[in-house]
Amino acid sequence: MKKKVETLIVTGASRGIGEATAKHFCKKGFRVVGIARTADALDQLQLELGDLFIPKVADLSDLDQAEETIVSLLNDRKLNISGVVLNAGISSGKAFLDSSRAMQTLEMNLNYHSPSIFLRNALKRFKRLPRGKIIAVSSLTALVPFPNNASYAASKAAFYHLLRSIRLEDGFKNVEISAVLPGLTDTKMSASFDSVLPRAAPEDIAKAVFQCWKKPAFPLVVGRLNQATESFNRLQPWLFDRVTASVVRWLPHE
Ligand SMILES: NC(=O)c1ccc[n+]([C@@H]2O[C@H](COP(=O)([O-])OP(=O)(O)OC[C@H]3O[C@@H](n4cnc5c(N)ncnc54)[C@H](OP(=O)(O)O)[C@@H]3O)[C@@H](O)[C@H]2O)c1
Repeated sequence: MKKKVETLIVTGASRGIGEATAKHFCKKGFRVVGIARTADALDQLQLELGDLFIPKVADLSDLDQAEETIVSLLNDRKLNISGVVLNAGISSGKAFLDSSRAMQTLEMNLNYHSPSIFLRNALKRFKRLPRGKIIAVSSLTALVPFPNNASYAASKAAFYHLLRSIRLEDGFKNVEISAVLPGLTDTKMSASFDSVLPRAAPEDIAKAVFQCWKKPAFPLVVGRLNQATESFNRLQPWLFDRVTASVVRWLPHE
């Protein structure tokens, strides 16, 4: 008997971590609905990956569009979606006072409200399935302070905390919820980050997402240095903040 193809959604699939994730899953035989705003990049991916990749153009910072998109995809019986990778995200890369109110709203819309809308609809659907999977591409900054990019860190922390709390609620026993926490990764988002720290490849994060698909993890911090940073912050928060503040003072200012 022919094995049924599993289908998942990957938001922010046009480049970076989302693109690497879409490619990784398609190469493993999954069907991926890849969402982003840039139609050309999604079409290019479909040329490369064939019928296993389905492009879907949407601006997920527009919350009505986000709701319409997830509802229509989940209602499409031919697709039979059983997983969602919540990856699309944005960062101002700016210190709080240098960032505008509009930018901070955009960060909250795309990094918190829009994935919350996807989450609510996916949970409603998946709790009726034998199994459903939700994997968030969060960030180390959900747990660890990120000076000079504070509103981004706050938006990632907010969504991480939402997921962490929901995981403990009754009624979602058949829904696997994972959170992958990358540190600095070599993508367009991090291009403007001034850091001497090593950058992971997007493919490393895609592998971590796939690992969560096979075996859920909450949280999965990617990379030894990031794991050590998270442990330091958790075990010695006061010292961690002092060291971080000293490093920030030492960094060049614009
Ligand atoms: N790079 C890092 O150092 C790093 C570290 C930790 C966590 N992360 C997290 O990893 C995730 C992916 O980031 P990345 O580094 O791969 O960034 P990226 O290269 O900038 O890619 C972001 C993706 O999100 C999509 N996107 C942006 N705005 C959108 C919108 N309004 N509607 C729909 N899609 C939108 C982009 O597509 P379009 O522009 O075509 O819409 C793109 O596909 C984010 O959640 C980020 O917070 C990144």
